[in-house]
Amino acid sequence: MAKKQLTFELNGKTVEVEVNPETLLLDVLREDLKLTGTKRGCGNGECGACTVLVDGEPITSCIYPALKVQGKKVLTVEGLGKEGKLHPLQKNFLSEGAVQCGFCTPGMLLTAKALLDKTPRPTEKEIHEAISGNLCRCTGYKKIVQAIDKTASEVYTGAVSGAEKERDKQAGPGAIGKSIARKEGVSKVLGRSKFAADLHFPGMLHAKVLRSAYPHALLKGIDTGRARNIPGVEAVLTAEDVPGTNSVGYIIKDQQVFAKDKVRFMGEPLAVVAATTEKIAEEALKEIVVDYEPLPVLSTPEEALADKAPLIHDQGNVLLTRKVRRGDPEKAFKQAYIIVEDTFKTQMVEHAYIEPEAGVALIEDDIVVVYAVSQGVHYHQEEIAAVLNLPLNKVRTIQTTTGGAFGGKVDLNVHVYVALLAQKTGLPVKMVYSREESIVASTKRHPFTMTYKMGADREGKLIAAEITMIADTGAYASYGPATLTRAVTLAVGPYVVPNIKIDACAVYTNNLICGAMRGFGVPQIAVAHEGMMDRLAGELGISPLEMRRRNIYKEGSVSSSGQTLKAVGIGRTLEAAVQETDNLGGESM
Ligand code: FES
Ligand code: FES
Repeated sequence: MAKKQLTFELNGKTVEVEVNPETLLLDVLREDLKLTGTKRGCGNGECGACTVLVDGEPITSCIYPALKVQGKKVLTVEGLGKEGKLHPLQKNFLSEGAVQCGFCTPGMLLTAKALLDKTPRPTEKEIHEAISGNLCRCTGYKKIVQAIDKTASEVYTGAVSGAEKERDKQAGPGAIGKSIARKEGVSKVLGRSKFAADLHFPGMLHAKVLRSAYPHALLKGIDTGRARNIPGVEAVLTAEDVPGTNSVGYIIKDQQVFAKDKVRFMGEPLAVVAATTEKIAEEALKEIVVDYEPLPVLSTPEEALADKAPLIHDQGNVLLTRKVRRGDPEKAFKQAYIIVEDTFKTQMVEHAYIEPEAGVALIEDDIVVVYAVSQGVHYHQEEIAAVLNLPLNKVRTIQTTTGGAFGGKVDLNVHVYVALLAQKTGLPVKMVYSREESIVASTKRHPFTMTYKMGADREGKLIAAEITMIADTGAYASYGPATLTRAVTLAVGPYVVPNIKIDACAVYTNNLICGAMRGFGVPQIAVAHEGMMDRLAGELGISPLEMRRRNIYKEGSVSSSGQTLKAVGIGRTLEAAVQETDNLGGESM
């Protein structure tokens, strides 16, 4: 299709570019003009990370046809302020702690600017409504609302708040209690921080992964012949092309870089293509022919544990078991005044960081350098070296500014694929997951099924617990062993229970891989032990708060796993929460 000339004003300067009728504004900004301050979080108008102003109105540039800005004024984060002269919103986002990973920040700032331009003194409700289309996974929004409100107040009254200076004065000498400027904060509010997807290198190729269409199947063959012959395709790799190990994993190396004989979840990588454009790489994926023989799908741990269940891994469907035995629960239950039993289930949870996984690998001298999102550069370096069959000192991993992670960027994602392709082609290779791909390929919080039986005496003192827990680790181990171990160790929460029996296991299924996520198994079991405390209190006719006070750890208490506790703060935390609830006029249970 013939390209058209597009002329518009961008951050106060006239720009001219040639675009196709279907080109989107975000691509013009990021790819043609290399203004990477505007971010792509979802690519379909849902997250607001790509927000820019067109004639003062906030729009999501990832779904906005570029030709619509013909003759108009576009403002991006790069036009909002300057080093040494930040826009008041940028200044207050920094001072109020409204910037964490910074990936949502450019879009959020522009939405806030549009609001204040129209409504100089918005109510809190108006601020909430204005930013409702801009997702932030780090801050909880409170600081963002505070920063916008503070800016409005300063601009409206003309008085610059000295609140943070006052705070700092009260804090006294030293750094503790003071508001310390985030080291990389200024570049984040100016849109200058380089996230992995923002990196460009001359001659760079673009890569895409072909993923399994079945959750459980034998792989009879992969034919990449047609894909290799497409003009612009520089490399197509499968398990056959891995020079080192094809097995990775932080604790147990059971995960395939590329599926070889079998796929174990829908979305498992089968092949990777590097091409001169992302579009060509995507087209090439469609030309790869995969011969599957579908196998029965095990979608719950119960199915995977059933007699004669098909094996997901040769060694069986149980990843690991954990047991705790303390005291004599059987005898204690016989003496209990009250016994309560219940089963709790928690679900799989997606981290949903706003920045999708991305990275670039290139060869510098004879070293493979990988710039990518990460929560573990040294672990990633070791894995890449093993997969590429290189000594450790021939691989460098550099963590780029990372747009949220919450445990989800500990495992490998794009790293080995771009590294393998850079090694193969000698060229820089970039890979950026789409939002959909990020959800399929990244790990999740483990779903747990937990059956609790707990007994207490007439005074509400816990005397026994019998617990079983089953965790779904999905197709591979990832952080399953650590997650289950922590869940077992903390199974009865911060409460003294002298007699305990726990049987726990983590089970392979054909679900998405579960791994690290904030809390490592503790949020799951908190649902169960806190639910049990409420049920026991109800049965005993005492308040849930009193039930907790009678059982909470104190200095010298022995934990459920036999550890004598020396420094214990939970009692004070509980009382502080009660006090705060009372101060707010609420009812403390
Ligand atoms: Fe455009 Fe999410 S709304 S990237
Ligand atoms: Fe908002 Fe990280 S600071 S997504």
